[in-house]
Amino acid sequence: MPAPNAAPSTAGRPAADPGGAAVTLERVTKQYGRVTALDNVSWSFRRGSFTAIMGASGSGKSTFLHCASGLDRPTSGRVRLGDTDLGRMKEAQLTRLRRDRVGFVFQGYNLVPSMDVERNITLPLFLGGRTADPRWLTEVVHRVGMAERLAHKPAQLSGGQQQRVAVARALVTRPEIVFADEPTAALDPRTAGHVLRLLREAVDATGQTVVLVTHDPTAAAWADSALFLSEGRIVDELAAPTAATVLTRWETL
Ligand SMILES: Nc1ncnc2c1ncn2[C@@H]1O[C@H](COP(=O)(O)OP(=O)(O)OP(=O)(O)O)[C@@H](O)[C@H]1O
Ligand SMILES: [Mg+2]
Repeated sequence: MPAPNAAPSTAGRPAADPGGAAVTLERVTKQYGRVTALDNVSWSFRRGSFTAIMGASGSGKSTFLHCASGLDRPTSGRVRLGDTDLGRMKEAQLTRLRRDRVGFVFQGYNLVPSMDVERNITLPLFLGGRTADPRWLTEVVHRVGMAERLAHKPAQLSGGQQQRVAVARALVTRPEIVFADEPTAALDPRTAGHVLRLLREAVDATGQTVVLVTHDPTAAAWADSALFLSEGRIVDELAAPTAATVLTRWETL
């Protein structure tokens, strides 16, 4: 059994209304050999909420997103997407579920090198046998500022441009939940603002759920709440974060 969490908040918060949870983690531990990347984490993300996850490098943020999204399986504990228990699903079912219900912006972008920008963005639709809503596709492409680059291959793009393609790919299916792993790390403040506004609107306009990993207090201020991870545990939550309150909390972590 994993050790119980030291901080009371780490034990997490059961969803006030379980039907209202987009994703629920119950006592999730992820072990890589002797490294405990996630340590008995329980948390529930309300549908239509925007949460920022912060923490030092190596604190387990990417591992948290990978386990919460079904990209990786926890060593122990349970993850539910809505009412679906991911642990009970076979690999192929999990792949389909991720493709149809989850958007993921990878920290390393994970674009397909041989495909141009447009194909990369529409890949999740193509794999799911769906066609793009042309108006939404055009809007997403414009909003991330990639309309002039649709025929370029990833190697012909800057890091920030690749990152924006990765954001567009995660949003194009209008997934129930978007997990974004430092999606603005390579962007200038203005372009970062465009991407964050797009994520905020996904929550406000269409009730999607967004979980954003970031090191940037300004980015976290777009969220409804900020979670702080330390050594694989959730050690604090800050409601209605501002850049200033995040920075203050960060300094005392
Ligand atoms: N595939 C893996 N194999 C072995 N160890 C891993 C693996 N993935 C992550 N870890 C370890 O788990 C811990 C948490 O890593 P994780 O990538 O989740 O951190 P992070 O908070 O996302 O860091 P960063 O801010 O640098 O992206 C680290 O100690 C890391 O070395
Ligand atoms: Mg990471």
